[in-house]
Amino acid sequence: MLGNFTYCNPTRLHFGQEALEQLSGELANYGPKVLLTYGGGSIKKSGLYDQVVQILKDSGKEIFELPGVMPNPTVEKLYEGCKLAREQDVDLILAVGGGSVCDYAKAVSVSTWCREDPWDKYYLRMEDVDNRIIPVGCVLTMVGTGSEMNGGSVITNHQQKRKIGHVFGSNVMPKFTILNPAYTFTVPFRQMVAGIYDAFNHICEQYFSGADNNTTDYIAEGLMKSLIVSSRTAIKEPENYEARSNIMWASTWALNTLLAMGKSTDWEVHMIGQSIGAYTDATHGMTLSAVSMAYYRFIMEYGLPKFVRFAVQVWGIDPQGKSDREVAQAGLAAMESWMKELGLTMNIRELGVTEEMLEGIADGVFLMNGGYKVLTRDDVMTILKASM
Ligand code: NZQ
Ligand code: ZN
Repeated sequence: MLGNFTYCNPTRLHFGQEALEQLSGELANYGPKVLLTYGGGSIKKSGLYDQVVQILKDSGKEIFELPGVMPNPTVEKLYEGCKLAREQDVDLILAVGGGSVCDYAKAVSVSTWCREDPWDKYYLRMEDVDNRIIPVGCVLTMVGTGSEMNGGSVITNHQQKRKIGHVFGSNVMPKFTILNPAYTFTVPFRQMVAGIYDAFNHICEQYFSGADNNTTDYIAEGLMKSLIVSSRTAIKEPENYEARSNIMWASTWALNTLLAMGKSTDWEVHMIGQSIGAYTDATHGMTLSAVSMAYYRFIMEYGLPKFVRFAVQVWGIDPQGKSDREVAQAGLAAMESWMKELGLTMNIRELGVTEEMLEGIADGVFLMNGGYKVLTRDDVMTILKASM
């Protein structure tokens, strides 16, 4: 393994069907004022809202509700949350929902006491936090983003046509997260598969970088195999606890900083996907699936040995009698057919992208330098056109 690193992940996880029983113990560590934030109502329908509110009340907490966090949370919603958190001077933000709600809670956490516009400071200028941070706890209801155990927080500014993620440090990561796989049973099918592919792509983004023999890559291969096996069960039996629990656990480890250790990491699929999201507000995982095949086929030549390894280790391609290029191509073909089996969106047109949007989308793509090929803007256009 190359590089020097310090590894510490401070988020305490409570996993399993009884995990919510640990919430009151966690709440005891914070003051009485809790900002309870959630999405568009799925937690009320499932009954989880009532359970959480009961635990908060039994713990003697004063609850301030901040509902209506939309998928791909907006900067306007961020300002609204900051105002409430500041007025009430809350002691803890409890996020109950998917990645959008967890991301949003982190954004409110660092922005409430920020002395300037948090969009400018954290998202456009990518500065670190130098003000009070409100602690965050999560009860996760949909998997994929890894937000439950990382410092990521993605905010969308529709006016500026920018969707930008800031990866904050361990001081911003959730203090605790409740992970009960059974909560994910009610996630709509399309969101479930989008989340599975989001997690899979997080692994790819970290795996497709570097040339050294790295322990992290072996962990990545194991996580990918687990996701492939469990996803095939989950699409047939969405309420299969074993499959959903494996997906939840693999997804958490896919993006909780572990897989980035000793790696340069790529992230270009996410950069393209986010720019598409800024124009279409499409489901995050689908923005990734829709460009992935065009992207990986484009960079394959530049990282051929890794694509060969991916084909053999993850997809079980037999290399006998094939050239390296053929093995790598067979691996990508196997990945593509798995993606189609899941029913993922495989082109950006279906997400609402039009020819007129392509130049603007390309302008909004950050060009990263950790993968096998540093893209040019022309390369991005080529990939976008191939994804139409
Ligand atoms: O709002 P509600 O009513 O809760 O409905 C949500 C939402 O409509 C629904 N849902 C969630 N749990 C449910 C459920 N419906 C029924 N039963 C349940 N148990 O699912 C819909 C999507 O939820 P959302 O939170 O938006 O999905 P996801 O977890 O994919 O989060 C997407 C956001 O995370 C960002 C994305 O860019 C996007 O903004 N990301 C965050 C990352 C991070 N923190 O590191 C990394 C990712 O790459 C990603 O960019
Ligand atoms: Zn993602």
